[in-house]
Amino acid sequence: MVLACTVLVIVVVSLLELFYYTLKTGAPPMPSSFGAARHISRLISNSEKHTVIEIGAAWGHLAFPLAFSHPASIIRAIEISPLPWLFMKLLEKLLGVSNMRIERCDMFDASLEDADAIVCYLHSELLEELRPKFESELKPGTLVVSNTYEIPGWSPTKVERREDSYCPQIYVYQVK
Ligand SMILES: C[S@@+](CC[C@H](N)C(=O)[O-])C[C@H]1O[C@@H](n2cnc3c(N)ncnc32)[C@H](O)[C@@H]1O
Repeated sequence: MVLACTVLVIVVVSLLELFYYTLKTGAPPMPSSFGAARHISRLISNSEKHTVIEIGAAWGHLAFPLAFSHPASIIRAIEISPLPWLFMKLLEKLLGVSNMRIERCDMFDASLEDADAIVCYLHSELLEELRPKFESELKPGTLVVSNTYEIPGWSPTKVERREDSYCPQIYVYQVK
């Protein structure tokens, strides 16, 4: 009985936490599809000391495949919501991944200056809010890869169409 109540409390608190952060940020922790994650990984070069930042990483559906497919790179996964962040921390330990930096913070407060590439799956309103931060912090040549949504006001260098109704296109930008 005590165990059942404890589990129930944990489940309810976790759901409330997810709901609270979804309301606060306007972005639910909806993951990219595995196909989109593989596609995005192929667009990012695997260079020594390359830093890739996933902003709004949720459960790490982009960050973990990137960490495995880019062992020479550092993958920073930034997430504000505690439950997905904790999930990533546990998975990192469980899988013994050593090239990830999982950060629990607001992406608007995180420094993006070391990024060689940014990956994200965020809706366009949020990307529009992020654009001034991208423009002031990202160095020329930085690749920005956005799953499904375009960055308002930026022209993509390419748009990769996909046979996937859940993640139908990927926008690729290069900072000038
Ligand atoms: C649609 S999910 C993206 C999931 C992941 N990138 C993927 O492709 O599987 C958006 C995530 O962004 C996070 N998020 C939204 N605003 C944020 C902020 N200001 N700082 C950090 N994370 C944020 C949300 O908590 C949510 O988990």
